Amino acid sequence: MATEQTFIMVKPDGVQRGLVGEIVGRFEKRGYQLVNAKMVHASQEHLEQHYADLKGKPFFPGLIKYMASGPVFATVWQGKDVVKQGRALLGATNPLASAPGTIRGDFAIDVGRNICHGSDSVESAKKEISLWFGQDGSIPYKRAVDAWIY
Ligand code: PPS
Repeated sequence: MATEQTFIMVKPDGVQRGLVGEIVGRFEKRGYQLVNAKMVHASQEHLEQHYADLKGKPFFPGLIKYMASGPVFATVWQGKDVVKQGRALLGATNPLASAPGTIRGDFAIDVGRNICHGSDSVESAKKEISLWFGQDGSIPYKRAVDAWIY
């Protein structure tokens, strides 16, 4: 059976603030496996596709403008229950509701600059991985440590 995967993105403010390593490190230290990553300065069209479900929300134009303001760091992570656990590592969407110890709870105070994105379900993870990485969703490799962590 294929292991679960999720799409985690460091948003432009996270890249600007030098938080890529911190965010990648938290997922790695938890035991998740990085199976793809790239820096992308996404087009408005691409972002509108990514956030298609939110079209019509009052914050949609601002969200797209913010997300297109600079490069993002797009990643794919793999491991047990990674979609749900990944969202827990990020914290609540509104950083003011995020517990200390979570990424947003430690580094953000504004929902419009909340540093990172994580897929909210296994189904949206599949769609998002395909949108951002196409056919080459992940680069599988075996880690020697898997036997110890799992
Ligand atoms: S909603 O209205 O419940 O569907 O929205 P929510 O699930 O809270 O958030 C969906 C994504 O929209 C982003 N968001 C915002 N961006 C900019 N400004 C404001 N005010 C705002 N409110 C919500 C939020 O960060 C979610 O994006 P992702 O990339 O999934 O974190």
